[in-house]
Amino acid sequence: MKILFYGTASYDKESFDKELPAYPEISIDYTDTNLTPLTAALARGYDAVCAFVNADAGALTLEMLAAQNVKLLLMRCAGYDAVNVNMAKELGITVTRVPAYSPEAIAEHAMALALCANRRIHKGYIRVRENNFALAGLVGETLHGKTAGIIGTGRIGAALARICKGFGMTVLGSDLYPNQKLVEEGCIDEYVDNDELYARADLISLHAFLDKDSYHMINDESIAKMKDGVILVNTGRGGLVDNDALIRGIRAGKIGAAGLDVYEGENANVYQDRMDEILGTSITARLCSFPNVVMTSHQAFFTREALSQIAVCTLDNAMAYAQGGEYVQGSQVC
Ligand code: NAI
Repeated sequence: MKILFYGTASYDKESFDKELPAYPEISIDYTDTNLTPLTAALARGYDAVCAFVNADAGALTLEMLAAQNVKLLLMRCAGYDAVNVNMAKELGITVTRVPAYSPEAIAEHAMALALCANRRIHKGYIRVRENNFALAGLVGETLHGKTAGIIGTGRIGAALARICKGFGMTVLGSDLYPNQKLVEEGCIDEYVDNDELYARADLISLHAFLDKDSYHMINDESIAKMKDGVILVNTGRGGLVDNDALIRGIRAGKIGAAGLDVYEGENANVYQDRMDEILGTSITARLCSFPNVVMTSHQAFFTREALSQIAVCTLDNAMAYAQGGEYVQGSQVC
């Protein structure tokens, strides 16, 4: 099985090359070119292509792949909104993805953002680097004894609940489908509705998936219901938060600290070095201008363990296709 690996970053090659010896039937050629209609022709002679969340696997790309007899698209990410699934079905292209990788990695990053923003570690680091050892403006809140509110208690939310328990916090959960097992295990003290969670939580972390119901769930109205000085963390999806409302909440002093790994409008930025460009929007600059905001760029998943899980799942799926076996559970898109 010959795979053309599109959009390769150094860490992709490293993690896949590390696992490849266990798959002697598979060979991979790497290109840093992304998969688009313009680059699909490169796949001639390959059995499969591997692409990431920022690929363009729309109708034209898929038609070009099919015309070259490439019938397997291995997405090395969870989301597959970049793929025209109906067209893939029509063309007989099998599409797989990596349904879950290291929920703990994302939960740990969520807590890291909460701690960094709350304790102004990003500001303290810069001060010490500049020989400024003053503390004024760096005061934060002790989390021990406080209340965490986790919106979306699936894989990642549950992992964060366990972390918050370790910090000695009371943990409130909110979910469309409350998971009583987490209550029985002592990870979540109580399920409440969102309004009660807003009213009681000192730290709110978003782990619901984005759909039309959760879009902009954090808006002027919900922020008004939160405690003064609340710590807000978003590692879920940018669209969960209305950026303008968030900025108003920070300016009003309602939001005491914010840690954001995702934000609405991030797509053009994600994993790109745009240092030399004049950006068309200023959302990151506006948010980072606040001393109590810390931002990272869709980095929460980024641990060696998660990269290794992505590689193993993708290669297992390639083997399943080649040998007619079972795909990793939940990974076959079509
Ligand atoms: P999951 O499917 O295990 O859990 C999501 C939970 O949210 C479910 O229990 C669901 O019932 C709940 N939910 C959905 N809408 C809700 C609403 N309106 N109110 C309350 N609860 C709601 O998903 P998982 O794996 O825990 O992922 C959560 C989020 O994290 C996803 O949006 C995912 O895209 C994002 N994510 C972010 C990454 C990053 O690097 N920043 C990496 C991977 C995932």
